[in-house]
Amino acid sequence: MNTPWWKESVIYQIYPRSFMDSNGDGIGDLQGIISRLDYLKKLGIDVIWLSPIYQSPNDDNGYDISDYQAIMTEFGTMEDFDQLLSQAHMRGLKIVMDLVVNHTSDEHRWFVESRKGGEGPYRDYYIWRDGKEDGKAPNNWGSCFGGPAWQFDQERNQYYLHLFSKKQPDLNWDNPAVRKDVFDMMTWWCDKGIDGFRMDVISLISKTAEMPDGEIRGLYGDYSPYCVHGPRVHEYLREMNQKVLSRYDLMTVGETAGVTPKEACLYAGNDTGELNMVFQFDHVGNCGPYGKWTDKRRPLTQLKEILSTWQTSLEGKAWNSLYWDNHDQPRAVSWFGDDRPLYRVLSAKMLATCLHMMQGTPYIYQGEELGMTNYPFKGPEDFHDIESIHAYEEWCKSGLVSHQEFWPCITAVSRDNARTPMQWDDTSQAGFTTGTPWMPVNPNYKEINAQAQLADPDSVFYYYQKLIGLRKKYPVIVHGRYCLLMPDSQELFVYERILGDEKLLVLCSFADHETSFPVPEEFAAGSCLISNYEGGPKNGALRPYEAAVIRKASV
Ligand code: GLC
Ligand code: CA
Repeated sequence: MNTPWWKESVIYQIYPRSFMDSNGDGIGDLQGIISRLDYLKKLGIDVIWLSPIYQSPNDDNGYDISDYQAIMTEFGTMEDFDQLLSQAHMRGLKIVMDLVVNHTSDEHRWFVESRKGGEGPYRDYYIWRDGKEDGKAPNNWGSCFGGPAWQFDQERNQYYLHLFSKKQPDLNWDNPAVRKDVFDMMTWWCDKGIDGFRMDVISLISKTAEMPDGEIRGLYGDYSPYCVHGPRVHEYLREMNQKVLSRYDLMTVGETAGVTPKEACLYAGNDTGELNMVFQFDHVGNCGPYGKWTDKRRPLTQLKEILSTWQTSLEGKAWNSLYWDNHDQPRAVSWFGDDRPLYRVLSAKMLATCLHMMQGTPYIYQGEELGMTNYPFKGPEDFHDIESIHAYEEWCKSGLVSHQEFWPCITAVSRDNARTPMQWDDTSQAGFTTGTPWMPVNPNYKEINAQAQLADPDSVFYYYQKLIGLRKKYPVIVHGRYCLLMPDSQELFVYERILGDEKLLVLCSFADHETSFPVPEEFAAGSCLISNYEGGPKNGALRPYEAAVIRKASV
C-alpha cells in the first residue's frame, strides 16, 4: 500500500496576522505570505497550515468567523487567496485551511437571524436555553476565556451557549441543517483545490443534552465532561468524512483537547473513517492551582513518558502529529528548552531533533525554525490576546491571587508569546512591516532573524532544513518503530527508531551541564547523521543540550 502523502510531510503553521505585511498597515496579509513562499520552500516544508483568514470581527483573531466564504478585509481578497493557492502549488507546497465550526462569530448571518427567534430557518442553529426560574443562566459553566459560558440575549429573551468568548456562539450540530451548511461550505473550499483542514476544537461539537452544572474551577463550573468527546461527535465526523472528506485527496487534523490515545484511535484510526490525525495536549497541558496558568514545567521523566505513550499506543493503529508549539502555546525554546543566550541555539536544535525524529507528522510554528523566544511583557497592558486579558482580570483583579504570584505564570504561557511578528531581518520592525505592527516585535529581533540565519550555515534554520532532508531520505524516520531508552534519566531523552535492519539512535540532552553517556556498543561504529555540536558526540558524555542522531552501521 502506498504511504499517504501527509505521513511523509512536514507542516508549517502560519499565523497570518503576524507573518508578513505587504502594504504597511501593520497587519500581515496574503500578499505578504506569497512574498515568503520561496523562504518556506527553502526550509523544505511540504504543507502550509493557515490559521483563519476568513472574514471576522477579530474578537479572537479570526477564530470568530462572520463569513466562511470571504477573506478577512485586512488580509486581502479572494483573488489574493487564489493567487496564494496557485503560487504555493506551483512550488509543490500544499495549503491546509483552519476550519472553525464549533462556533461562529455573533456577527455571522446565521446568528443574526437566529437571535431573532420566531419560526425562521436559523432558529435552532445555535444552543439556546431559557434562564432558570430566578432568571439566572441555565447552568454554572464557565467559558474558556473567562466569565460564564452563557450570555443572555435581549432580542431573543434567552441565553445562548459560548464555550469561548461571548462573540463566539456555539453552533448546534444536532441540527441537520447546520451540518449540511457546514459540509457545503467545506465542499466549496475543496472544489477550489485546497489540500486539507485543521479542525478547531472539533472534540467539542457534540454536547450532552442535559447540560448539568460542572465542578467549580476558579469562579465557574467545568463544562468538559459534558462537551468534550460528546455523545455524537464520532457520528458527525463520519458523516463529514462520507459527505466531504472522502471525496478529495486531503489531509485532516483535529484539534482535540482532552484526547487520550484510545480516543485518538477513534478520531484518527487507520480505518475509522473520520480524520487523519489529532493534536493531543498531554505534553503541553498544564494544571496548577491557577488552571493552565503556571511557570512550572513537567519533569523530563514525565514528558518522556507522555510522548512515548503516544508513540507506542498509536503504532500501527493511528498516526501522531508532532508539535512543541503553535499560536496558543508559549515559544518552544522558552518553555521546553533554554532561551538564555548561551543555550538558545543549542536547545532549539536539540528540541527539533527530539521531535522530528519521532514517528508522526511534524509541525513547525512560524519562527520556531529561528528559535524565536517568548516576549518580555512588562505589565498586563501589554496583552493583546482575549484569553490573557480576561485571565488576568479573573484571577488577579478579582483578588483570587496576587499580581506578584500570578505574573510569572501568565507571562510564561500567554498565547501572545507566539503571536509577535515574525522576525525577518534586523531593520526596523524586523522587516515585518514598514508601518506600525499590530503587536510589538520582540526586541531581540536584531540578533534573532531570518536574514541572519540564512547567512549562517550553523543556524537553527539550516538545522531544521537538514532534519527535514533526513526525513525524506531515511524511511526509518517516517515508518520506524519507536523505543524509549533510559526512561528514568532526568536529563537525557534517548530513543531508538527501528525498521527492519535499519536502526537509529536519537540522543537529546535536556541538561545545561555535561552528562555522562556511553554510546552503546551497537552504535559505536555508526555514522552521525546530524548533531548540534561540531563532530557529533564525544565518547562518554553529552555536552549541554547536545543532540545527535546515530545510524547503526549496516552489517
Ligand atoms: C482553538 C484555537 C484558538 C482559539 C479557540 C477558539 O483552540 O487554536 O486559538 O482561540 O480554538 O476558536
Ligand atoms: Ca497588511
